[in-house]
Amino acid sequence: MESPFRIPFNRASFVGREWDYLEAVRASGDMAGNGEMTKRAESLVRTFLDASTVLLTTSCTSALELAALGLDLAPGDEVIVPSFTFVSTASAFSAHGATPVFADIRPDTLNIDEDRLEPLVTERTKAIVVTHYAGVSCEMDAIKTIAAHRGIPVIEDNAHGLYGRYRGAPLGAMGDFGALSFHATKNFSSGQGGALVITDDEAAERARIARENGTNRPAFDRGEVRRYTWVSQGINALPSELLAAVIVAQLEQREVVQARRRELWQRYNAELASWAAQHGAQTPTIPAWCESSFHLFHLVLSDESSRSRFMSHLASRGILAVSHYVPLHDSPMGQEFGGRSGDCPVSEDCAQRVVRLPLYYELSDAEHDDVLEAVISFNEFS
Ligand SMILES: Cc1ncc(COP(=O)(O)O)c(C=O)c1O
Repeated sequence: MESPFRIPFNRASFVGREWDYLEAVRASGDMAGNGEMTKRAESLVRTFLDASTVLLTTSCTSALELAALGLDLAPGDEVIVPSFTFVSTASAFSAHGATPVFADIRPDTLNIDEDRLEPLVTERTKAIVVTHYAGVSCEMDAIKTIAAHRGIPVIEDNAHGLYGRYRGAPLGAMGDFGALSFHATKNFSSGQGGALVITDDEAAERARIARENGTNRPAFDRGEVRRYTWVSQGINALPSELLAAVIVAQLEQREVVQARRRELWQRYNAELASWAAQHGAQTPTIPAWCESSFHLFHLVLSDESSRSRFMSHLASRGILAVSHYVPLHDSPMGQEFGGRSGDCPVSEDCAQRVVRLPLYYELSDAEHDDVLEAVISFNEFS
């Protein structure tokens, strides 16, 4: 079906040697996973993050699940998560036995509010999970201090933030675990895909096993055992070599993709500043000590009805702008875990007002001009 939108919100594209690498995998006849392309993709991420272990996974969700399996969760255990995030930041942990405890966000970066964390930590807290919204870091020093004080791990949901930095440190490698996404909407994509970054070597070996259905197949592959067998809880999270081939080709183009995204993002930011100030709309906040991954460009408009008119205005010009995240604590499943309306007021408020503009590698200058012109011509605020 043809899309009614001339300018979509996102478009995933091949940016380098994807076809060559896919052909190389086809020719090798070895497509299942954990082959040469998987190792190359893992090495590209590991080198940038300066991390000890990176495991490619089928998605960010499955990477988060591997982190959950590494926590040995038992019924009643709690995991603190932001309310304003994607479902799997919480569901990856609840699916493995934890009760999510929802934290509110800061109104500037829309990241988990480090000043509201402490009262949420209990004897049963097994981890704090943070999401670096839009690829701008959470306040990791404060969060890690709270976690270290209680001896609990920090897990970074870094679905948005590959190649972003916090005080010089790469996002995704600051916690005990970091999860990346190569979903079609992300800066680098194989349609579906992800990776888990792990600091501790013992946790890394457990994750390798968990990634292959809880079998000691990794030891078998290294020639350490004659047969592999079921040794722990696990899932099938190993991606095919075909997905890995696409990820390698994408990550090799990191500089050019990120340069274009940065250019588009900075132009939105510069050219919409006075329009936003005039109409009480908020442009993104990037603290001076953070480098963004330029994953998305969002605006927080003055109220929900203005947002809805704004989205219709852009749609009437063939441009798709989209809202973001229904706060998890207020979702039907979140309520089953004890979430109630009003628990996370900043998340509830921002969720009604956030809108994201088209931002993708192949967005042309002419299309970008059209989006800017459409935004600036909107003045039907409440
Ligand atoms: C913050 C966040 N976490 C996790 C995910 C899930 O990623 P995946 O689709 O790779 O499982 C997303 C996807 O959009 C996300 O935005």
